[in-house]
Amino acid sequence: MKKKWLLGVIGGGFMARAILSGAIAKGVLNAQDVLVCDPAQESRAYFTSCGAAVSEDNRDAVRGCEYLLLAVKPQNFPAVAQVLRGETYPTVISIMAGKTKAAIRSLTGAEHIARVMPNLPCSVGAGMTAVDASELSEEARGFVLGLFLSVGEVIETEESLLDAVTALSGSGPAYIYLFLRALIAAGEEQGLSAQQAQTLALQTMEGGLKMARTSGKSLDELIAAVSSKGGTTVAALESFEKDGFERSVLHAVDAAVRRARELSR
Ligand SMILES: NC(=O)c1ccc[n+]([C@@H]2O[C@H](COP(=O)([O-])OP(=O)(O)OC[C@H]3O[C@@H](n4cnc5c(N)ncnc54)[C@H](OP(=O)(O)O)[C@@H]3O)[C@@H](O)[C@H]2O)c1
Repeated sequence: MKKKWLLGVIGGGFMARAILSGAIAKGVLNAQDVLVCDPAQESRAYFTSCGAAVSEDNRDAVRGCEYLLLAVKPQNFPAVAQVLRGETYPTVISIMAGKTKAAIRSLTGAEHIARVMPNLPCSVGAGMTAVDASELSEEARGFVLGLFLSVGEVIETEESLLDAVTALSGSGPAYIYLFLRALIAAGEEQGLSAQQAQTLALQTMEGGLKMARTSGKSLDELIAAVSSKGGTTVAALESFEKDGFERSVLHAVDAAVRRARELSR
């Protein structure tokens, strides 16, 4: 039997907004084909203003949709599943950090589950998403890939690598903002205005990225190209090394992976 909506969403927070508003703007989804379930009036009002249907009752999404996007926090998922016990789930697309297909299946009985790890820049069409759609039909896989391609780049990967993806690109935007904030603060410390430091830092990040993508040079070659012998960059790089910058990045990504594994339980 044909379902009422193409896509049902449980949890209308930051990520659901980023993905759905991008997909609707790109014409990959019609707002009228989407139902969003969230207990918060503010969230439902947001999606109503986008033209989507809304509900407070998560059963509407499970019963009335071809695909179900799980976009609640992983910690909230057991309670969500408890209320939905006994329901027959449609194809599930989970963006929850850490929650494995096995864990989702044991709580929902869903047969077909895709695990997807997007990131926040989906909200500006520059997302990075990794998808494990290995359990899905070709048609369902096409739907999932199309949905996330509408808000950025997509790679397909096996589930065992998704915690690493989560720690790199899922959480990664926060690392970038942290580095930018530190760079801007350092510039201000040296007498630049906040505005000047921000312009310099953002455009340096932008230009550095563009060269990393397009120059055909390795990162080591690019670092060397900025590092004249005995010059200022070398002094800064030596200071980074002394303070264990790269080790600190390794530790941070490892901490995120460990947290993703904890959340899987
Ligand atoms: N944020 C990121 O950068 C990012 C990146 C990749 C993946 N993810 C994953 O995406 C998921 C959502 O993250 P988010 O940042 O969008 O979180 P969020 O903003 O907190 O969104 C979750 C939404 O679910 C709602 N909710 C809570 N209990 C619910 C229930 N029983 N039924 C229906 N909705 C319920 C929340 O309402 P209240 O606020 O009222 O509780 C909130 O609106 C998480 O699993 C996270 O691991 C996030």
